[in-house]
Amino acid sequence: MILILDFGSQYSQLIARKIRSFSVYSEIVPFNISIEKIKSLNPDGIILSGGPANVYAPNAPKVSKKLFELGFPILGICYGMQLIGYILGGKVLHSNKREYGNAVLIKKKNDEILSGVKQNSTVWMSHQDKIIKLPEGFDIIASTENCEYCIIKHKKYPIIGMQFHPEVHHTIEGEKILRNFVIKICNSKPDWTMGSFIDQSIASIRKQVNENKVICAVSGGVDSTVLATLLKKAIKNKLICVFIDNGLLRKNEAKSVVNRFKKIRIKVKHIDASKQFLSKLKGIEDPEEKRKIIGKEFIKVLFKEIGKNDFLAQGTLYPDVIESVSVKGPSATIKTHHNRVKEVLALIKRGCVIEPLKELFKDEVRRLGKQLLLPQEILWRQPFPGPGLAIRIIGTVTPERLTILREADSIAIEEIKKANLYFNLWQTFTVLLPIKSVGVMGDERTYENVIAIRAVESVDAMTADWAKIPYEILARISNRIINEVKGVNRVVYDISSKPPSTIEWE
Ligand code: XMP
Repeated sequence: MILILDFGSQYSQLIARKIRSFSVYSEIVPFNISIEKIKSLNPDGIILSGGPANVYAPNAPKVSKKLFELGFPILGICYGMQLIGYILGGKVLHSNKREYGNAVLIKKKNDEILSGVKQNSTVWMSHQDKIIKLPEGFDIIASTENCEYCIIKHKKYPIIGMQFHPEVHHTIEGEKILRNFVIKICNSKPDWTMGSFIDQSIASIRKQVNENKVICAVSGGVDSTVLATLLKKAIKNKLICVFIDNGLLRKNEAKSVVNRFKKIRIKVKHIDASKQFLSKLKGIEDPEEKRKIIGKEFIKVLFKEIGKNDFLAQGTLYPDVIESVSVKGPSATIKTHHNRVKEVLALIKRGCVIEPLKELFKDEVRRLGKQLLLPQEILWRQPFPGPGLAIRIIGTVTPERLTILREADSIAIEEIKKANLYFNLWQTFTVLLPIKSVGVMGDERTYENVIAIRAVESVDAMTADWAKIPYEILARISNRIINEVKGVNRVVYDISSKPPSTIEWE
């Protein structure tokens, strides 16, 4: 395992993902993890990430000098390198000038870290500070025009500093450099595969759960389906899947989710709680209030299913876990996760929550699903938010408005699928606006609802571009919605990207 000490870099997750792509497990921990804990984790090597601070700032995040005496190979990237310089007796120049962009790497000395890397390879810089006096015992391995100490390495110990970012794709041979560190310098064995992950997970789930039952709420999305499939493999009939219908689902969704699980031989208890949710949402306009109500009711319904000795399984993923330990602290967490509400926290305290996916990134969950033989339609389904259609009906949610949105939504999805665009788009959906507009149907004036179509391309939902869907397809969706959905006389297309807009309208 390679341990990444996070100093607040926006790229820490990228480092972990790159290393995992070499089939070596990698974990991100806060920079202030204790030396004892590091020793007990016994990593093959340690990476000190970049970060926004400067080493001379009063509250700059630092590590103990003892870290360098443990004998683990260490790679400091950007701020991580400056820390190595600072702690081991070099000098760092704090500059107001920023070097940002490509640079040419000039090799000064042959070393394993640059094995197979060409002379004059392009690397990507993003820094203000840099080392200007080498700490004792270090050699220069490579320089760039503006940065003499671009890669440095201790003469005796496997301690390396790197001013550029090998983890970003602009560093053309960055992957090779990281691989050299992990495989050649840390001697990590590339044996962390999805197959080995499944075997280890199954063993640890069985050990933790013993003879008890496990309740797993499924939505039909990728995470919960992969989770349920893994659990089924591990504990067979001790798994109880529940599907909570909150009344805010898409057309025929409940039926099709239950059928889909039937196909993969997992029994699901379908709980129709739609009346309960809709009555609590009556008259509520504020989106955050809608979210709170839906989250609260969900927990109420779910916890009715959990008996005294039962376990709860959740599809928490790695990014959710890292957010909560990030150096930026909990205040940087924007989303409120309902997998960390007080009822769940109490269960966690009793050791009754299992989260087998909590070490995985989303793309790894899909790889796991593939290994578990789940079909492509499930693995590449577009995400659907927990609060469902409630946050796509702007204003108050009523049964009538839900029917209008459901019909419009199913037409949009049907046409996008027919045009073979579904799997290219991150999300496609419709939004029911809180206004009416004038139209004309036959000889009559109409005064009816407006539907917005939203389709975006994205890789992780952090940023998104509005999709340039061909006009003919937009025209077909619009015509069909206006002709087939009673109560709609106008359709508009949302051409805003994120940021500054968000993907959802609420
Ligand atoms: P935004 O609208 O913030 O959405 O750009 C980013 C992604 O998150 C989904 N989303 C949610 N998912 N509960 C969820 O489970 C929510 O309250 C929620 N709000 C937004 C959204 O669909 C998109 O994929």
